Amino acid sequence: MENRPNVNVAAIGPEEVPVIDLSGDIDERIVEEVGNACKEWGFFQVINHGVPLHLLEAMKETSKEFFDQPMDEKKAAKRDEVNPVGYHDGEHTKNVRDWKEVYDFLIDDSTLIPASPDPDCQELRTITNPWPENPSQFRVVCQEYAREMEKLAFKLMEIICLSLGLPGGRLKGYFEEQTSFLRINHYPPCPFSDLTLGCGRHKDFDFLTVLAQDDVGGLEVKRNGKWVPVKPDPTALIINVWSNERYKSAEHRAVVNGEKERYSIALFLVPSHHVMVKPLEELVSEEDPPKYLPYNWGKFYATRNRSDYKKQNVDNIQI
Ligand code: SIN
Ligand code: FE2
Repeated sequence: MENRPNVNVAAIGPEEVPVIDLSGDIDERIVEEVGNACKEWGFFQVINHGVPLHLLEAMKETSKEFFDQPMDEKKAAKRDEVNPVGYHDGEHTKNVRDWKEVYDFLIDDSTLIPASPDPDCQELRTITNPWPENPSQFRVVCQEYAREMEKLAFKLMEIICLSLGLPGGRLKGYFEEQTSFLRINHYPPCPFSDLTLGCGRHKDFDFLTVLAQDDVGGLEVKRNGKWVPVKPDPTALIINVWSNERYKSAEHRAVVNGEKERYSIALFLVPSHHVMVKPLEELVSEEDPPKYLPYNWGKFYATRNRSDYKKQNVDNIQI
């Protein structure tokens, strides 16, 4: 049943995902509002976020042109076991096929990851974005968009650190050779929209997600046992965060539409390949011990698309 869309859906309002105005410099109001939203929801929308709206539009246009192409063109830029970025039409969440196709690309165009997830493997390999030839402006628009989104993601990281009582730059060093990437989601209209999900329920695996969506709607967040739809606003961005349960990671999913296609674009802020993911020592104590086992991010990432390796011991996340 959990893989069907029509279970426990709340109407929009009175519960609504908090909306935070980010205009101006980081100040006490912003830090407090973000802290509260992270504690209470793990999910919020931001407006006046600084990412130019014409770029959000351009990104959606070029994404549509890309996905409208024949399959052969798209598959020329497909991801595989060696390169875990590019076009993919077989996404699964918790072993159930999602009604969507995606294109993933790294913020930094290429990055290093472990050659294998084997704990003894020290060797690294480079992964690189497989850019499609068409649409011709696709690469430039994606890269410009990624840089703007990255700026916003690091600003949010600073605000989140401040809201936890940490110095604003406390986490920056972990992202110096980041493996952060963006995912363009295309959800075609679905004739079985009451039976199928565009993206099954999951919690994100990353430190921070910044999600843009069009005006179709479909994203839902679990709150007090009910699915709360996020009001679609193509000018706002949705933020999703977690930290050792102090800031809970909110479960979410995307339902599909019977008539309209839908686009969403996510930035996943993830650290460098060598980083061990575990709570900061300042945030744990005897009363507040780590809630998850530490794991090596790069090795976990390297299991992606590798049918020959089991994922490391990380539960309930999507990659
Ligand atoms: C996701 O959570 O991966 C996608 C959500 C969306 O498309 O709204
Ligand atoms: Fe997600």
